[in-house]
Amino acid sequence: MGEPVGGGTDIAITLTVNGVVRRAEVPGRRLLSDCLRHDLGLTGTHVGCEHGVCGCCTVLLDGEPVRSCLMFAVTADGHAVTTVEGLAGPGGELSPVQRAFAECHGLQCGFCTPGFLCVVTALLRENPVPTEEEVLEGVSGNLCRCTGYQNILRSVRRAAEIMAEER
Ligand code: FES
Ligand code: FES
Repeated sequence: MGEPVGGGTDIAITLTVNGVVRRAEVPGRRLLSDCLRHDLGLTGTHVGCEHGVCGCCTVLLDGEPVRSCLMFAVTADGHAVTTVEGLAGPGGELSPVQRAFAECHGLQCGFCTPGFLCVVTALLRENPVPTEEEVLEGVSGNLCRCTGYQNILRSVRRAAEIMAEER
C-alpha cells in the first residue's frame, strides 16, 4: 500500500502500466478507472455504468480482467495494469485480437471495444481454442449497444484463428 503524501490525504502509488512504471498521488477513494484516465492520461479505458455492469472499463491486472470502476487505484499499487493502449506491439502493430475486431467489424461506435479487447485477450491467452460456449461465457460480462454481438463473436473466433496461424 502506498504512503500518504505530505500532510494531505493523497496517497502515492506506483503501478506498472503497459510495461512502464507510473506514479500517481491519489485520494484513497480514487477509482482505478479515474486514475488511469485522469491521473495517467490513458483515456482508452472507457467508463460506462460505473457500477460493474457494462464491462467497458475492463483492464488487465497482472494479466487478469478486472473492472477498473470497481477497484480503488490504491488497491492496484505495486501491480501491473494493461490497458487497451498496451495491447498493440512495440512498433504499434495491432495485436491479433485487435486485427480480428477490425477485420470482422466487431465494433461500431467503439465505446465498448476497449473492454472487449482486454477481456478477449485474456480469454484467448488462457484458452487458445475456446468452444462456442466458452466464447459466449467469456464475453458475457461485457455489454454492447450497437453490434448485436454476432460480429464480436466472429471476431473472437477469428482472433483464435490468427493466433493459431502465428504459433
Ligand atoms: S464502467 Fe465499469 S463495468 Fe461499467
Ligand atoms: S460498438 Fe457501440 S457499444 Fe459496442
